[in-house]
Parts: sequence; structure tokens; C-alpha cells
Amino acid sequence: MTARHASTGLFLCLEGGEGAGKSTQARLLRDWLEAAGREVVLTREPGDTPVGAEIRRIVLSPDTGSLADRTEVLLYAADKAEHVETLVLPALARGAVVVTDRYVDSTLAYQGAGRTLPVDEVERVARWATGDLRPHLTVVLDLEPAAGLGRFAERDRIEGESLEFHQRVREAFLAMAAADPEHYLVLDARAGVEEIAAAVRARVEPLLPPVAPA
Ligand code: TMP
Repeated sequence: MTARHASTGLFLCLEGGEGAGKSTQARLLRDWLEAAGREVVLTREPGDTPVGAEIRRIVLSPDTGSLADRTEVLLYAADKAEHVETLVLPALARGAVVVTDRYVDSTLAYQGAGRTLPVDEVERVARWATGDLRPHLTVVLDLEPAAGLGRFAERDRIEGESLEFHQRVREAFLAMAAADPEHYLVLDARAGVEEIAAAVRARVEPLLPPVAPA
């Protein structure tokens, strides 16, 4: 399967460990793009389709208990397949900017590095599920896991994993970014919210497709 970047619209992704501030940055990016007259679809994985919401409950609820690692990969992959086909691709085809809070890299980091499954096998599943659609840019908000996890009073199935698990997740995000600097921006999540937002805007601005004449 060959990597595919949408030829219309702009596909942006925010990634990072727990409590790194992705959703805040996703909202700020959306607000800035909308103020510039862009159609923006702000979305997230898992859970932003009706089926995805059910999957999110299963994979994250502590009531689910343990799942076989492969089951977990397939559930996240099913969420992605539904998300890409029913929401992401139609929005990109309309020329919208899609900002997703997590995508394939989360599967590679959490199920691959975190659960210590062979990353190439996990990647084949996740790429197949998404038709190998790749973001034009992924912003990694990097944070020491102990700092991010400290923000939660209650932890879900994934947040409740060990510090070592979350350390492997962090290293995996950093390694993916280092291997492909053209498509990644790594930012220190401890910086101020506005400072991070400005750095994201500076990187996104030149990627924006021309606005179609009214
Ligand atoms: P969120 O709390 O940032 O919405 O993320 C949901 C949780 O699901 C988070 O702990 C990361 C995890 N996750 C995976 O393990 N694999 C995936 O493919 C995705 C998208 C998220």
C-alpha cells in the first residue's frame, strides 16, 4: 500500500501522550482557521462517528477489563476505518481542513510500542483500515508522562497503564517525528498555550490550500 496525501483540503493531526493539551490546541487551531474563512472539521479518534462512540466506550471503559492485545488493535482500527471513510475523506474532498485529535500514530505508539506488539504488523492493520491516508502534518505535543498523567483524578483503561508503558509511547511518537521531519512538528507541551498555538499556526499557514474564489 502506498502512502496517500489528499489532493484537496488539508489533513492535520495532533498527537501526544495523556494530558499534553491536544484538545485545547485543536480548538485554538480550529478557531484561527475559521476566523480566516476556512471550513474546519474538528474530530478525534477514537469515537467521532456513531460506531466509533461505541468502540470508544469499549476500549476506554475500565468496566471492559482486559482485552487481548490484537482485539484492542482491531477495535481501534475499526474506529479509524469508519472515521476516515465517513467523515475525514468526504470533508477533504469538499476542500475542508480536517483537524484530528489522534490518528494512526496513536495505534503505532500505544498498541505497537506500548503493548509491545510487532510495530510493522500493527502498522499494516492500521494503514489498511485507513487506506493509508496520511496527514499533511502531525503536531506532536511532547510531555513527560508523569506530568501528563498527574492531571487525571480517574484513569481509563489506557491511562491506567504503567509509567513504563507511557514512556514507550512517548519515545515512539518522538521516533516517528524524527524519521519524517517534513510531516511532523514536535513541540514541548510545557510551553504556554499561546506560544504553542502560535508555533502550530506558523507551521500550518504555508500548507493551507488557496481559498477558492467566491
Ligand atoms: P484521548 O483521551 O486523547 O481522546 O485518547 C483516547 C485514548 O485512546 C488515549 O489513551 C490513547 C488511546 N488510543 C490508542 O491506544 N490507540 C489509538 O489508535 C488511539 C486513536 C487512541
